[in-house]
Amino acid sequence: MNLFKKLIPPVSTSSLLAVPVRYDDDTFGILVCVSMGAYRFSDDDKHLVTALSSFGASSIQNARLYSKVFTVEEGLRRSERLTALGLLSAEVAHEIRNPLTVLKLLCDTLSHGLTQDDPRTEDIEVMREKIQHMEGVVSRVLGMSKAQSGAFKSIDMRQAVENAVLLLRLKFQQAGVLVRTDVAECLPFIEGNPGQIQQVFLNLLLNAVQAMPTGGSLKIKVTPEKGQTGEVIAIYISDTGLGVPEEIKNKIFESFFTSREDGTGLGLAIVKRILRDHRGDIVLESTSRTGTTFKIWFPLPAK
Ligand SMILES: Nc1ncnc2c1ncn2[C@@H]1O[C@H](COP(=O)(O)OP(=O)(O)OP(=O)(O)O)[C@@H](O)[C@H]1O
Ligand SMILES: [Mg+2]
Repeated sequence: MNLFKKLIPPVSTSSLLAVPVRYDDDTFGILVCVSMGAYRFSDDDKHLVTALSSFGASSIQNARLYSKVFTVEEGLRRSERLTALGLLSAEVAHEIRNPLTVLKLLCDTLSHGLTQDDPRTEDIEVMREKIQHMEGVVSRVLGMSKAQSGAFKSIDMRQAVENAVLLLRLKFQQAGVLVRTDVAECLPFIEGNPGQIQQVFLNLLLNAVQAMPTGGSLKIKVTPEKGQTGEVIAIYISDTGLGVPEEIKNKIFESFFTSREDGTGLGLAIVKRILRDHRGDIVLESTSRTGTTFKIWFPLPAK
């Protein structure tokens, strides 16, 4: 009531109509109508003010949802960068491990025929120690990237696809891209890491949008299929973009290969790595100047 006193000018005779501004169980505020003089609010007035408050509540709710989408998008970008960093460290670690094995073998060969009091024996011992230290670091990095992919859960592919499309809907709108999904009924769940699977979709959908600079259409088809090693869930992502030029077709899955000025070239490499961690894979199913289809698949869990 104190708030009302502040908001409403003191008039000797005034009538007041107050309606809560609420959406579901959330009350955002109160819409107050004041008449400067005695007035009896009619039923029509009450309906009008109630309708206004409900429009207001919907607008506030929409604004809140919009800002939430942006926060979630920002969070996703951050986690994508972290995954890229993780992938990079795992690749660097992997590439360092092989030469280290060679160095260790060479140390053994070098020490042959040297006597204990030969000063080179001590040098070789120091080299061996340092190599062991580096091996420890490399194993820890590789171990960490394995632990991250360990958190597998049951995943509903329909939900995963819908979530990815929902997250990028503003991007599609901006780019003039029309999205169609065709998901088979009664799909069995797969086993996977939800965050990583979301990254797979985001990378592929963003690539598709980037391939359609003047807009176009994007189709996502999800269907069970018989794969080479058993039943799989296959997902076809087709765009009506510029296509992948013949000369780069066999490079696109390599880390750091990009044809875009602002690209890092890690998107498809990450996708491939994630899918292989899930015992699935990705292929460039078809491409021409009128569009591209990527096919990815996940195996069904053993019964
Ligand atoms: N849907 C597509 N249509 C045409 N070309 C594509 C498509 N998807 C990927 N490519 C090609 O493959 C390259 C590699 O894609 P990738 O996602 O790995 O990296 P990027 O998109 O260039 O950069 P980043 O994803 O790291 O920002 C792209 O630069 C592009 O040339
Ligand atoms: Mg990309």
